[in-house]
Parts: sequence; structure tokens; C-alpha cells
Amino acid sequence: MEKDIIKKNVRERYGSIALAGSSDCCSPECCSGGTPVQAATLVGYDAKELESVPQASIIGASCGAPVGFANLQKGEMVVDLGSGAGIDVFLSANRVGMSGRVIGIDITEEMLDRARKNAGNNGYANVEFRKGDIEAGIPVDGNSVDAVISNCVINLTTDKVAAFREIHRILKSGGRMVISDLVADRKADSINLERWSSCIDGALAKDDYLASLKEAGFKDASVLEERQFMSGELIGGRKITSLVVRAVK
Ligand SMILES: C[S@@+](CC[C@H](N)C(=O)[O-])C[C@H]1O[C@@H](n2cnc3c(N)ncnc32)[C@H](O)[C@@H]1O
Repeated sequence: MEKDIIKKNVRERYGSIALAGSSDCCSPECCSGGTPVQAATLVGYDAKELESVPQASIIGASCGAPVGFANLQKGEMVVDLGSGAGIDVFLSANRVGMSGRVIGIDITEEMLDRARKNAGNNGYANVEFRKGDIEAGIPVDGNSVDAVISNCVINLTTDKVAAFREIHRILKSGGRMVISDLVADRKADSINLERWSSCIDGALAKDDYLASLKEAGFKDASVLEERQFMSGELIGGRKITSLVVRAVK
């Protein structure tokens, strides 16, 4: 299927989610009528810590909680790829403090609007949201970032190696990426646009995912967490797993 058609569908899906304020896809609780906060705690967020971020940044579109694994320090420069309404940007901003900075990147205009409003309405001066397609080029200088985080986004891209190469480019030497993402037990047999936008059909087989990181230049990748997604039920004929992966430049 044409990459442009997939991307257009992804932008439309997340544009609608941004306007509605909650997701009906990448998180199981939302599918069964739960709230975005319930969906977030189900994938690993700490309910108490979630009270510290703008509530409109929690849209139930996450598949893990990468900030909890990123060991962010005061003063660090952090980039969140596919930042959505900003949940992980704000959690990170609270951790790096005013001497640090967090940049959220997203391809969808409506998401950027929602995230910027969340920042403005809640007085976050150490965050910024930039428009970009992470596989075409992350709008951030090379060798400038201490930590890259991302939550349920790489699976939506059509060229994972290109996205990982961009992450590698912007990280400082010794910088880390900590990413939550979905993988599958095997390659997808066919592509369905709806399922791709729901984070499923673009999910690589786990071995291919880890190989893509290596191909992009990362030397040591480790899986920090692995959970069954949607109680392990088959989706599109595949078993889907949510991972938290860490790799260092
Ligand atoms: C499943 S949502 C996750 C949002 C957020 N990370 C969270 O956990 O709430 C995926 C987000 O990635 C964005 N996105 C998808 N493909 C992208 C790309 N190629 N470059 C940048 N952002 C992208 C979408 O617009 C959407 O906001």
C-alpha cells in the first residue's frame, strides 16, 4: 500500500482523536468504555503522577509508560516523538525542571494545537511542540539530545529504520532512547488501513524491530518490559505485545 495513503489516514485518525480528546484505538481500556486515565494506568502510568500533568494531555493513546524507565535528570534535553496531546512531554518536563527542556514532535496539526494549549494553559515554560514527520527528518539539531522518548508511534511509521536513524542522529554520544511500542509474533500478512492507524498492522515482528535498531546504528538494545496487548487476543491474526525498549548511542 502507498506510504502516502497510510500517512494521510494516520493524520486523519489522530486529528479526530485530538478533537475528541480520547482514543478508541491504541489502548484497551478505552475500547471497553473506560476513561483515558484508566487506559493510561492500565499500560503502566502511575495514577498519582498523572495528577501532576494537564488532564487534557491524557488521551488514552499510549501503549506503555516510557518516562518511568528513562531516568531523566534535572537539566536534561529530552525529545518526545509523536507527542500527541503531550502526556509524556509534561511528565518529562516535571522531571527535568526549568534548567531542562522538552520538545514534542508530532505530524498532526490538531494534536499540536491541543498540546500547545495544554502547555499554555498550565504555565509550562520548558516545553515546545514542533511539527514533523519523524521518518522524514526530526526537526531537531544533530548530537543535541540527552534522551529520546516515544510512546506508541514508531509502529505507525512506514520506515522504522529511517525513524531510528533520525533518533540516532539527534542523540548526543552516550544519549539514550527509551521507547514504548507494539510488536507482533510475526510479520503482517496484509495491511488494513484502519488497523494500521490503530497501531497494529505497522507493528513489526519483534526480531525485525530489534534488527532495525541495529541497522540504524544502535549497538545495545534491551527490552525493559514486555506485556501482552489486549489480553493476548489475536488481532489481524497476530499476537501483539507492548515493549519498552532502551538503546544507547
Ligand atoms: C498512538 S498516538 C500516541 C500519542 C502519545 N505519544 C501518547 O502516548 O498519548 C500516536 C501519535 O503519533 C503521531 N504520529 C504518527 N506518525 C507520526 C510521524 N511519522 N511523525 C510524527 N508523529 C507521528 C500521531 O499524530 C499521534 O499523535
